[in-house]
Amino acid sequence: MASEQTVHMNGGQGDTSYARNSSLQNAEQNRMRPLIEEAIADLLSASASMPRSMVVADLGCSSGPNALALVSIAVDAIRGQCFRSRQPPLEVCVFLNDLPDNDFNMVMKSLVAFQQGHRSVVTGVIPGSFYGRLFTTGSLHLACSANSLHWLSEAPEELRRNKIPAYDIDEHVRRGRRRVVIGAYARQFRKDFKLFLELRAKELVAGGRLVVSLAGRRSEEPAAEFTHAWESVVLILSEMASKGVINKSKV
Ligand SMILES: C[S@@+](CC[C@H](N)C(=O)[O-])C[C@H]1O[C@@H](n2cnc3c(N)ncnc32)[C@H](O)[C@@H]1O
Repeated sequence: MASEQTVHMNGGQGDTSYARNSSLQNAEQNRMRPLIEEAIADLLSASASMPRSMVVADLGCSSGPNALALVSIAVDAIRGQCFRSRQPPLEVCVFLNDLPDNDFNMVMKSLVAFQQGHRSVVTGVIPGSFYGRLFTTGSLHLACSANSLHWLSEAPEELRRNKIPAYDIDEHVRRGRRRVVIGAYARQFRKDFKLFLELRAKELVAGGRLVVSLAGRRSEEPAAEFTHAWESVVLILSEMASKGVINKSKV
């Protein structure tokens, strides 16, 4: 999916909001808990003396309960480490990032509530693409990201140029082009992920940590569960396009 267009998760708290339809993603975030705890333990034990403060961020936070899930794990881990080493609580600066069309009104309300429940934590939002610079050089201790890095910066240029969609409704055409499409998206992912790593390498402090999780698969064979989901989406979008509800070129 190309990320920097005006696509975004549904904001608010209604029936179709991301806040109320993201339990699968939250399960993935919970699987990251041990990695985040280990990263914090390593960061604090590697410093000759305990740092006075730490900066942690979630990149691609969206809105709703998941927006705070990873940074909450990090803040709890920092508090736990300080307690175990009989140190006063560290000051922590928590930043949440997403694209500008994200529901930041809701995110900011969640941050205020979070800050009220956590003394020595200050918070902020960083709107913008994680395929660009977000933080000053050497300022970030821990960057986390869940379920977001499969959003590419753009659809592969070679496919756009030849007007080849990611998923052609015609099964015969789709099968014939599968290698070309998969190859183009794999190259685009490699390019974007390399850029993401280069940018974060500049922003992290020496020894800083990056904990990311994203969907992937080992085989080139599309996994059945994903294919079924896409087929339903494509059928609905194609019908909407044929009725003129949406632009055909966007399907
Ligand atoms: C599926 S949501 C994941 C939200 C949350 N991290 C979770 O695990 O539930 C993906 C989020 O990534 C954001 N995103 C996509 N591309 C981005 C980019 N280039 N920079 C920042 N955020 C991006 C989207 O706006 C969306 O909110």
